[in-house]
Amino acid sequence: MNYRHAYHAGNFADVVKHALLIALLESLLGKDKPLSYVETHAGAGRYDLDSEAARRTGEAANGIVRLQACRGRSPLLDRYLDRVQACGPRGYPGSPWLAAGMLRETDAMHLCEWQDEEARDLRRLFSDDPRVHVHRRDGYAALKALLPPHPRRGLVLIDPPFEEQSDEFSRIQAALATALGRWPEGIHAVWYPIKLGRELQPFRRWLRACPARSVLDVQVLIQPDTVPQRLNGSGMAILHPPWRFEERIAAWLPLLARTLAADGETGHVRMTWLRQATDSD
Ligand SMILES: C[S@@+](CC[C@H](N)C(=O)[O-])C[C@H]1O[C@@H](n2cnc3c(N)ncnc32)[C@H](O)[C@@H]1O
Repeated sequence: MNYRHAYHAGNFADVVKHALLIALLESLLGKDKPLSYVETHAGAGRYDLDSEAARRTGEAANGIVRLQACRGRSPLLDRYLDRVQACGPRGYPGSPWLAAGMLRETDAMHLCEWQDEEARDLRRLFSDDPRVHVHRRDGYAALKALLPPHPRRGLVLIDPPFEEQSDEFSRIQAALATALGRWPEGIHAVWYPIKLGRELQPFRRWLRACPARSVLDVQVLIQPDTVPQRLNGSGMAILHPPWRFEERIAAWLPLLARTLAADGETGHVRMTWLRQATDSD
């Protein structure tokens, strides 16, 4: 596997994913009850935007750097920017770092990462944090052992590298089937890249028929999803989203899409209920 998230940290796709992650965790933290946060693909936890990898691609310039211009326009995006600032002058927080900064003493975190180096970084980052458990293993397979988690309330984030796009979707579907079987009430969020929009149809069809009670699909497009060779958008399928989650994120997603839009584009948000709980559920 060649993927290293350091090349992409803080890019537009990360910004969409991390803003949605903060919104999900804030919803869960609205109740006093303890919660578990599980990540199948955790990465290194924290990134340096001055590293050789980050400078080589310069992707943060069209992501988190642009978001700075939104200061004062959305409370949630301000809270995200505050967390980025707390990561140091040229630091960028990965999802584990963001989650650790939000969770309480009574909450638990399980972070899976396949690559030795990234897993070592994670262990170092959280060595003093008894809430955090790092697992150097395949995150998909780990779900069987980790679910249902203790405390039995919370969120799984599945954020794979998508080196082989179609293969990754079949692995996600198998992992979701396991996760829903072992922890039917959990929130399961899956990040995915949007290149050619129509290539996502089989995954969306699977979600429409899956055993989850509700599935909200959120897509932020920075340019039309008709050109397969480039990353056109950032998507997240959320199984069992929190109560009125779509209303809360609708307050800032359009601003995010406009801010991150490619040059000459306006940016676009698509929110679709692929499954919706009925009163009898
Ligand atoms: C997109 S990055 C994760 C970024 C991180 N979630 C964040 O938002 O900060 C994907 C990570 O998955 C790791 N990875 C790839 N295949 C894996 C697998 N089967 N199990 C666990 N980790 C895997 C890669 O090494 C990489 O660090």
